[in-house]
Amino acid sequence: MGLKVAFIGFGGVGQALAKLFKDQKVSLKDSYGLDPVVVAVSDVMKGSVYQPGGLDIEQLLKVVEDTGNVENYPDEPGIVKGWDSLETIKHSNADMIVEVTFTDVKTGQPAIDHIRTAFENKKSVVTTNKGPVALAYHELSSLAEKNGVFWGFEGTVMSGTPALRMPISTLAGNDIKEIKGILNGTTNYILTEMEKGKTYEDALEKAQELGYAEADPTSDVEGYDARYKAAILSSYLMNTPIPPQDIECKGISDMTVDKIEEAKENNKKWKLLARITKENGSVTATVKPELIDTENPLAGVSGATNAILYECDLSGPIMLTGAGAGLIETGYSLLIDIINFQRQSALTKI
Ligand code: HSE
Repeated sequence: MGLKVAFIGFGGVGQALAKLFKDQKVSLKDSYGLDPVVVAVSDVMKGSVYQPGGLDIEQLLKVVEDTGNVENYPDEPGIVKGWDSLETIKHSNADMIVEVTFTDVKTGQPAIDHIRTAFENKKSVVTTNKGPVALAYHELSSLAEKNGVFWGFEGTVMSGTPALRMPISTLAGNDIKEIKGILNGTTNYILTEMEKGKTYEDALEKAQELGYAEADPTSDVEGYDARYKAAILSSYLMNTPIPPQDIECKGISDMTVDKIEEAKENNKKWKLLARITKENGSVTATVKPELIDTENPLAGVSGATNAILYECDLSGPIMLTGAGAGLIETGYSLLIDIINFQRQSALTKI
């Protein structure tokens, strides 16, 4: 059998990944030797189903779409229904846990417990939940290493745009002195619309309509979402964990059209920037609106697009821009982590 996968949480992102498994089946096998077999789904709202021999993905997606409950998957020999997330992680035969639960970013739970349990049971994990990486990167990555398993979390910063992987692989050998990023699509969209004359309130309403903002947009507009992403970048790329609450953070909720107009008259733009700086051996991070020159490459990033600029000692500044949210993009971020896991596994077997 191929790579046995269990989904813990099966909302839009999980379903997007399952759909990619189905739609890309042939190319994943041909190009990467990857043959994902979904053996389990466990979701607090949608129930759970475990079939050690593998579930039919098309049927699984149809059952969720039609009934909202995976336990309506047809009964067949060997099938188990009703396991909770921890039972599924511990007792299923899955090798790879896709942790995409609805997790409270302030505590990282239940994702942290799920990931810890997976590693203790020698199972690899991919996740898009920010909490576990922002709050417990060092503990969890040590546990993964100790148990010889893989942990992927590319989608936690800029969804499928490789903000974490690219500097580690492609920029290797550089010392990254500073990272500056537009890491929240909602706020960048609001600022861009305000430049066109919309009020803050109208722009926020439109961002919500378009699905960029979180259900409670406070996390976006007050900068908290970007603050968690800054904590992840500091831990992962600067090897310095900074508790998110220690990162100075100011959002854009008091931004006015007047301030934006004044900036425009001075050839400047307001951008909500996350900044992680390495200086004299210590690393600091901030998230706040900053006035930048219109010639600055980050000034040209408009709408919900995200961007990140790495100030490297050897290659100079390198900027990456792309989507920071979206179901397909975030589902893709999990797929690329799984492909990388597959590549690493293939290498260790040589
Ligand atoms: N609400 C977030 C954003 C989505 O606007 O960028 C991804 O964290």
